[in-house]
Amino acid sequence: DPVQAPDFTKCGDAHDVATGALLDAKCCPPLPDKIIDYEIPKFEVLRKRPAAHMASKEQVAKYEKAIQAMRDLDTSHPEDPRGFMQQANIHCAYCNGAHDQVGNYDKLDLQVHNSWLFFPFHRWYLYFYERILGSLINDPTFALPFWNWDNPKGMTLPPIFDKSSSPLYDEKRDPKNNGSAIVDLTFSGSTDPLQLVANNLSSIYSEMVRSVSTTTDFVGKPYCAGSKPSPGGGSSENGSHTGIHWWVGTKEPTGPNKFNEDMGNFYSAGRDPVFYCHHSNVDRMWTIWRDVVQTDIPKDITSSNYLNAEFLFYDENKRLVRVKAGDCFDQRKLGYDYDRVDLPWLNYRP
Ligand code: C2O
Repeated sequence: DPVQAPDFTKCGDAHDVATGALLDAKCCPPLPDKIIDYEIPKFEVLRKRPAAHMASKEQVAKYEKAIQAMRDLDTSHPEDPRGFMQQANIHCAYCNGAHDQVGNYDKLDLQVHNSWLFFPFHRWYLYFYERILGSLINDPTFALPFWNWDNPKGMTLPPIFDKSSSPLYDEKRDPKNNGSAIVDLTFSGSTDPLQLVANNLSSIYSEMVRSVSTTTDFVGKPYCAGSKPSPGGGSSENGSHTGIHWWVGTKEPTGPNKFNEDMGNFYSAGRDPVFYCHHSNVDRMWTIWRDVVQTDIPKDITSSNYLNAEFLFYDENKRLVRVKAGDCFDQRKLGYDYDRVDLPWLNYRP
């Protein structure tokens, strides 16, 4: 059977799913009075997500204004599910065992990572996050930028996140990795920019093309009702996705049971605004794998255990809605798409 939507009324303590260690984080969502089966609303204009390093002044100004409005809710209405910390806590709750699996599996932590739920969960998460941002600034075309780390021009922390006066800034990052430092997707430890660019391109080629011989190699291993957490992530989740989290987060403990904040740990990753911009690119890589990469492998898993896996999110109208993994495969049907940019890794065979 598919994994069912969690029961928010039973939300418990956040802990490390692998070790059980309790975390100093409270991440349960507000309780709703009802749950609505989500219907994708009609839209007139497709939201076009821009590359963060190419976003126009106007796009950046809107983004900053929307994130500031979200942050303001933390102080004015801390229980508002659209607030910045509430949004960050979604990640903690779905990834640090605050939610158990529903059914007769309440001893099993729900963990959406390291499995085939990774892409659909994060797509829906960003979908509502983007709609909330747009609605806070009354712009139904607002689109979340993507961190274009698969292109050499995007292989630094996007400069818009690097100004301490901006609402897009986060203090808890590795101070070495701002400015012109090149991302290290392969944990190589190299400091040679040309070497890093070459490593990054070849590892993206590998995780998108060369090392993928089955659908689950790319999307992750089956995770169903009753499955133990973390059956195994897909090539992209395990590769560039994790590489960026690790690269951005601090490498020093920030307190007892506090490591790698903010980006390098599940419970805190969503507290860095760059998380959503990073995941916008992770999501974009999924669209490129489906639309651009040429292969005979089926692009989508057709098992009902996958298609009918469920999640709950608060939408931009503060309604708690239930969505299914199988309803999110086509981003254009959800009302957004990505600006086209070069794919220099696509024919990168070192
Ligand atoms: Cu939910 Cu990038 O992790």
